[in-house]
Amino acid sequence: MEERLQKVMAARGVTSRRKCEELILAGRVKVNGQVVDQLGYKVEEESDQIEVDGKVIGKVSFKYILLHKPTGFITSASDPQGRKVVTDLVKNVKERVYPVGRLDYDTSGLLLLTNDGELANRIAHPRFEIDKVYLATVKGIPSAQALHSLRNGIMLEDGMTYPAKAEIEMKDLERNQATIRLTIHEGRNRQVRRMCQAVGHPVIRLKRIQLGFLTLGNLAPGHYRQLEPSEVDKLRKLFN
Ligand code: URA
Repeated sequence: MEERLQKVMAARGVTSRRKCEELILAGRVKVNGQVVDQLGYKVEEESDQIEVDGKVIGKVSFKYILLHKPTGFITSASDPQGRKVVTDLVKNVKERVYPVGRLDYDTSGLLLLTNDGELANRIAHPRFEIDKVYLATVKGIPSAQALHSLRNGIMLEDGMTYPAKAEIEMKDLERNQATIRLTIHEGRNRQVRRMCQAVGHPVIRLKRIQLGFLTLGNLAPGHYRQLEPSEVDKLRKLFN
């Protein structure tokens, strides 16, 4: 079947479709030995040979891993300072997978890892408004007014937050702390921590329990599972 060159490149895991277009325009892509530097070129998926910077790109098998990230790991595939990284936890997967979005060093919870760059970019992009659900254990018991502010948007130093869902999940009056279930679809740096801090309730513990329709379920910290093919299909359909 004929498909646009950049679509086939992205599907083979080169990079996102947009970045593949840049590679094409830069003259770095050959089809059957000939440079193609115009967009709109179609290739025969099964038989045409595609090269990027002189390297033939074959079909890759995509892997989608749902990890329960423990605290004390950084969301990266490597760390120059030698700290523990989330990819150390994923054994028996020979493909190089990368985290989709990030969780702080001291945040635990659901983290997706994949070598499917295109899907990863889409999931992480705020335009697609994928809900992320967090349980934030905070100091103090938030008032109705504090919850109202979290829901309606808060002015942070990088601008107003989008409306969110915020509910008290649990109150611990003895310890004077509470757990808030917070649903946001943005992914700004330390956003949940900054939102809670801004309403006077610093975060003690933070865990992500859901990303879109994917939930952590019973996975123990440090454990992971591969997504079911039906879950991958469902993810792809979110962006069609
Ligand atoms: N918001 C935060 O503050 N930290 C995270 O790790 C994720 C969301």
